[in-house]
Amino acid sequence: MARTRRPLIAGNWKMNGLKADALTLAKGVADGAKATSNCDLLVCPPATLVMAVAEAVKGSNVLVGGQDCHPKANGAHTGDIAAEMLRDAGAAYVIVGHSERRTDHGETDAIVRAKAEAAWRAGLIPIVCIGETLAEREAGSTFSVLARQIKGSIPPAATAARLVVAYEPVWAIGTGKTPTTAEVAAAHVHIRKELGGAMSEASAVRLLYGGSVKGSNAAELLAAGDVDGALVGGASLKADEFLAIAKAV
Ligand code: 13P
Repeated sequence: MARTRRPLIAGNWKMNGLKADALTLAKGVADGAKATSNCDLLVCPPATLVMAVAEAVKGSNVLVGGQDCHPKANGAHTGDIAAEMLRDAGAAYVIVGHSERRTDHGETDAIVRAKAEAAWRAGLIPIVCIGETLAEREAGSTFSVLARQIKGSIPPAATAARLVVAYEPVWAIGTGKTPTTAEVAAAHVHIRKELGGAMSEASAVRLLYGGSVKGSNAAELLAAGDVDGALVGGASLKADEFLAIAKAV
């Protein structure tokens, strides 16, 4: 069946990378991307490297994103970064509501939603992350958690062109564990259904799967129903491995 939504393979470098290695990685991805026309490629370096990476991939089909932004455009918020600053540095996307931010920084759905709105204000596309913890999955509340996060984190004005949603089960992040393809498909179908209650273009929104995606399991995970790409952590730190995931689309 032909895909109606263009796949997106996004690398979340998290808090990894000093300039020299990051630029080598970015250039490696940009070189490999020449042979990758079946999907969009995005790398999200740490904030300190967004500008340098954006310069390094200029002219390629690799896009650059931030990993977080503040809801406000400017002001007295020491250490924070505005979506406008990311845009100014060359970003086109920004990840918001990653589970590590929800946990490490106490980000609530309301904060995540404000950040997604900030991304739009700055002309960025937010990748809104949602996903259940292991305890929530074991309690059988995965679907209700996802529904609550969608309702709370995704602004009502969302359209398909300016929203990406990433399903990242917290227990699958950095653990080498992944849900089965049937579990991924079930979650994505549920997410799309819930999105449908919140916006009219839900069928066109790209839904990424994230959590221990690597070259060797990408084909299987990406073939799951309603999966339009991947948000990749550890495996995005090696150009070959990241490109292997893109090839698996
Ligand atoms: P890993 O691919 O390292 O499991 O991380 C996934 C993730 O958190 C991407 O945002």
